[in-house]
Amino acid sequence: MTKRVLVTGSYGQIGQVLVAALMDRYGKENIIATGRKKIPSVFKEKDVHYHRLDVRDLTQMQTLLVEHDIDILIHNASVLSATGEKNPQLAHSINFEGFYNALEATRMLNLEQLFAPSSIAAFGPSTPRENTPNDVITRPTTIYGISKVYIELMGEYYHQKYGLDFRSLRYPGVISPEEPGGGTTDWAIWIFWEALRNKKYTCFLKEDTSLPMMYMPDCIKSTIDLIEADNSKLEHRSFNVTAFSLAPKDLVGPIKEAIPEFEIAYEPDFRQQIAESWPASIDDSVARKEWGWKPDYDIPAMTKDCLLYTSDAADELDGVDLG
Ligand code: SER
Repeated sequence: MTKRVLVTGSYGQIGQVLVAALMDRYGKENIIATGRKKIPSVFKEKDVHYHRLDVRDLTQMQTLLVEHDIDILIHNASVLSATGEKNPQLAHSINFEGFYNALEATRMLNLEQLFAPSSIAAFGPSTPRENTPNDVITRPTTIYGISKVYIELMGEYYHQKYGLDFRSLRYPGVISPEEPGGGTTDWAIWIFWEALRNKKYTCFLKEDTSLPMMYMPDCIKSTIDLIEADNSKLEHRSFNVTAFSLAPKDLVGPIKEAIPEFEIAYEPDFRQQIAESWPASIDDSVARKEWGWKPDYDIPAMTKDCLLYTSDAADELDGVDLG
């Protein structure tokens, strides 16, 4: 099944891995990666078909969609939770205007599907924190979380009003060797980088702050599985997905097994409050039932794999500012 796919926010932590997976699956010539900056070196190396796009520019977005005869728009461009709290105005313009343009472009050009990620950040302090169900009170308190609720509600509105095939996943924290971009769950990536580079890490969350997480291969699998799921079987448009819950203290033992000298310290900052407004664990049974979601990686498998691949990335990116 060949699809032509355009990805916004394509050089983000998830985007760059997703673009490579889509190129493998649908053929390199059928995937268009876009982003605000000039082509990143990782895309140059892989000869990715890349165009600059500011998602706030509807005309530019439509032009690219038409010129490349796109079937599916994957709208990943977003300012994440921690960066959003530092600059709510920027987060508003990119996250809200950008998604509205993606919706309108999909509607006007009659594209086959629009996928846009939501997040555990769509939940808030009044959401039940343990085993948070799919259909539950949200009321987030970050600008990023509010933008995710906007994405879910507007996507569902366009689905019922115009029959637009909108689909969304509430990603948990996604762990991978790729550099993350301004989120509250980034500690679960920097801990590996710092363990490998300096054998110690100062964490910006308290040791027992549990959050739902998954390893990148599961994130990519969930995304492609939902995009390809039989539309007639979907009763929801937005789905909880998770693999495990993780607090900083849970990774200390597994990392010490590989790096015995590893030490951790805790200096919680403003991100602690964000983390405490999100669920500690979520119930993804709706995704399991409607399109067969099931993660492959548990904490030990993720840790082993991530240490291996992060050691390459950490060597190459020495000197990167660890948010
Ligand atoms: N990883 C994101 C963040 O921390 C959550 O979706 O902002």
